[in-house]
Amino acid sequence: MCGIIGHVGDGDALETLLTGLENLEYRGYDSAGVAVQNGSGIAVQKRSGKVDELKDAVSDVSLEGDVGIGHTRWSTHGPPTDENAHPHTDCTKDVAVVHNGIIENYAELKAWLRDRGHEFTSDTDTEVIPHLIQYYLDDGMTDEAAFRRAIDELEGSYAVAAMLSGEHVLYAARKGSPLVVGIEDEEFFLASDVPAFLEYTDSVVYLEDGDVVVVDGDGVEFTDLDGDPITREPETVDWDPEQAGKGEYEHFMLKEIHEQPTSLAQAIEGRIDPETERISLDGFDPGTFEHVDAVQLVACGTSYHAALYGSLALNQAGVQATALLANEYSVVAPPVDDDTLVVAVSQSGETADTLSALRQANRRGADTLTITNVVGSTAAREADDALFIRAGPEIGVAATKTFSSQAVMLTLLAQRIAADACGHVPADLESLLPDIGKMPDAIDGLLEESAADAIARDYLDSESFFFIGRGLGYPVALEGALKFKEITYEHAEGFASGELKHGPLALVTRETPVFAIFTGQEDEKTLKNAEEAQTRGAPVIAVCPDDHRAVEVADDHLTIPDVDSELAGLLANVQLQLVSYYAADLLGRPIDKPRNLAKSVTVE
Ligand code: G6P
Repeated sequence: MCGIIGHVGDGDALETLLTGLENLEYRGYDSAGVAVQNGSGIAVQKRSGKVDELKDAVSDVSLEGDVGIGHTRWSTHGPPTDENAHPHTDCTKDVAVVHNGIIENYAELKAWLRDRGHEFTSDTDTEVIPHLIQYYLDDGMTDEAAFRRAIDELEGSYAVAAMLSGEHVLYAARKGSPLVVGIEDEEFFLASDVPAFLEYTDSVVYLEDGDVVVVDGDGVEFTDLDGDPITREPETVDWDPEQAGKGEYEHFMLKEIHEQPTSLAQAIEGRIDPETERISLDGFDPGTFEHVDAVQLVACGTSYHAALYGSLALNQAGVQATALLANEYSVVAPPVDDDTLVVAVSQSGETADTLSALRQANRRGADTLTITNVVGSTAAREADDALFIRAGPEIGVAATKTFSSQAVMLTLLAQRIAADACGHVPADLESLLPDIGKMPDAIDGLLEESAADAIARDYLDSESFFFIGRGLGYPVALEGALKFKEITYEHAEGFASGELKHGPLALVTRETPVFAIFTGQEDEKTLKNAEEAQTRGAPVIAVCPDDHRAVEVADDHLTIPDVDSELAGLLANVQLQLVSYYAADLLGRPIDKPRNLAKSVTVE
């Protein structure tokens, strides 16, 4: 899981590459590198560490040229050393390659190349690619033929960009890992994701598996693996560069937390009409889900918590639904038939585990749908249908605004499936839809008055942080704990509140603050569970409306507006996002790029 950038044009490639790498750093930040075509050949600079370290390294060397490639890495094969950083070159240093994905047959290819005299300098799977290209060039093939032939040899997943000495050309191919082309007059970009070049162009072509492109100063040639021309039309993305920047905020995460009123407004725009109690989901006419008798939701990480939220909303609406971790799906998937709907929930639409589950569902004959933020993503293209959450770019590795939008979209979807499949309009739709409409303002108010920074400071020295919730509060408890551990590196766990007494209570001391989430679903029981922890010394922080009984009992309180119980958990989640953020900030953590993590993991 890495970030690729490439540039061909009249301007100086280096600056574009470094900007692109900074914009892509959320995809991996173990090491970074660039290769630029200069008068005398290919010049490469690469470093372990973040893009800033690469910038220092290139500041005192000459890397002039208008064609180049760059890479920011999240290690899979080999530790994050200078040698393992991309770009990788062949023995003659005439071929430079950047790659995202996994070359499954790299060991055989490496042995084969070694037998033919090739020497390797890294532990990576990627390094076989420039050596293969070199091998075929030495064999007399043209540059393009050698690139194609090398690609043909690869098994596994890849987005690859290659540059050959002396050529004003980039070659690229994709299979299983994302790659987009950006076009602005006679300037061309290649990247893993659109934010890489958003300040230069909003005209993009999303490549599909099996696409091979040749980019020179005159244009882009799109072909399939056999070299036959194919048509790929540019699309205009409606994200603007400001959305992808930090603006006035110190961190992307804080910016994205504060964007939730807008991102939620965008998610629901035109999709609900509280007056007529209508839910209009793009392209899904009433009756679309009539045949559905079971829903399986597959996802990873934060998206899994949104999927769990959705599965509970479906259950409550009378539809049989299960949320499954996508990486477990191949082993534990319940049976599917024509009447099963499998919903892949993924912000990026590129998570390898989720794609693998989606493909399995497609193979088994289920109807598939993805809920994603990225229009040209693999999940959007491979699922039968897609619903977009319209959250705009999310750069912070810890997902925030996309969780809220996914959960709201799933809440709407649950009502639609229930109406279609069970033939009844759920009783609470009358209050739910107006409350969904009020969510952006509710979050706005909450953000203005939150006491999360004070709470984070007061409990920072604790040993461990617990989060409990019941019903729709349970996925929020899991998400609260995940966010906390991801960015603070402190131990945090989320529990169904009723489970606390079945084991975790043994861990409870005055050093384990318990954040108790009240959503209006059996709150009395949750309060009792919180008191059981409090009796054993744990401070309790209630996340609930001001007039809730829990406020009197708890040691501290984070307030949320009083809304429908199907939505209260999402407001509680915003408070918990802020607690995690402020705790991580006080601890001096690299909030937007937590150690060992990456925003989108494209390996299984
Ligand atoms: C990575 C990220 C998580 C994210 C998960 C799923 O592990 O670090 O924050 O929730 O991937 O990503 P997706 O793009 O599928 O929602």
